[in-house]
Amino acid sequence: MQTFWDSLSKPFFVLAPLANVTDAAFRRVIAKYSKPAGPHVFWTEFVSADGLCRAGEEGRQKLMRDLVYTEAERPIVAQFFTSTPEYMEKAAALAQELGFDGIDINMGCPDKTIEKQGAGAKLILTPDRAKELVAAAKRGAPKLPVSVKTRLGYNKDILEEWLPKILSAEPAALTLHARTRKEMSKVAAHWDRVKRAVEIRDELGSKTLIIGNGDVKDLDDARTKAAESGADGVMLGRAIFGRPWLFAATESVQEKVLGSASGLNQTIFSTTFRLRVLVEHTKLFEDLLGDIKSFAIMKKHFKAYVEGFDGAKELRMQLMEATNAEEVERLVEEYILKNNEKGD
Ligand SMILES: Cc1cc2nc3c(=O)[nH]c(=O)nc-3n(C[C@H](O)[C@H](O)[C@H](O)COP(=O)(O)O)c2cc1C
Repeated sequence: MQTFWDSLSKPFFVLAPLANVTDAAFRRVIAKYSKPAGPHVFWTEFVSADGLCRAGEEGRQKLMRDLVYTEAERPIVAQFFTSTPEYMEKAAALAQELGFDGIDINMGCPDKTIEKQGAGAKLILTPDRAKELVAAAKRGAPKLPVSVKTRLGYNKDILEEWLPKILSAEPAALTLHARTRKEMSKVAAHWDRVKRAVEIRDELGSKTLIIGNGDVKDLDDARTKAAESGADGVMLGRAIFGRPWLFAATESVQEKVLGSASGLNQTIFSTTFRLRVLVEHTKLFEDLLGDIKSFAIMKKHFKAYVEGFDGAKELRMQLMEATNAEEVERLVEEYILKNNEKGD
């Protein structure tokens, strides 16, 4: 089966799923300021397959909001977590119906509430179940490629055993967050193990694409890590904070792309520009998710956008007190007026 994965030129750069960060609002902002250069694939945040199948109508409708996307975000992969093949199959069928381009199964999340269900990183300890989940997703969505996102191991690095097992289920792609579950994000990602994953894949004659993940700072770093490891693609997560233009090629190209596409007569790096993107992001969050998600979710974005310029700390403290997009806009415009920027 030919899928969008086959049409990507290598190395490709993809946006990580980040729960309560890369939500529908932030993804729209990223698509606007990073495209057409990238990301080459978007992921939704993880969504509970069990919740979709078992929650009451209100709960289900809330989860469905995590599956809202726009055409600008294509190709987009819906990520699910579960340990129950039946729910995986149903969630996959739903994703196909909703027009997603692919399905990803979370096999790396260390969150206790998810692990309690036997899902996330726990699946590394139950490889047969993990394989059943891949098969179930394929049954549910026969037209879509199924991928997996996982780690090196649970308590210790068991890549040599785990990878062949999960590759035998023939996922279209596998993202390797190059740390064990036990390491959480506390130590540097072991990129040498991504290289080893590529070797194992090749030794097995597997066709699964290998995507390396962990601590990648920007596209230049991603290119270097792809070249060193031989990975087909690289996934970037936390580097997107405060920089929705992260995937817009090199910095000079970013300036060009955004100078014309944004309609703002300023370069990307002006404080005014960054602050106005923050306002745009906040308004989108309020419009799309304000009725179901806490406004506090935006605060980690405020921290990321508002740093590295005169008066950032004071503005950040004011923004932390804001409770809606209107207040955020007022505070930002007051700051801009007061600082009377000349396109700094
Ligand atoms: C706030 C946050 C939320 C995350 N949510 C998810 C998720 O929903 N699904 C998933 O597979 N990984 C999730 N992750 C893990 C990231 O996708 C990624 O594997 C990890 O952050 C390492 O990549 P990075 O160093 O580029 O951020 C999350 C990580 C963070 C920090």
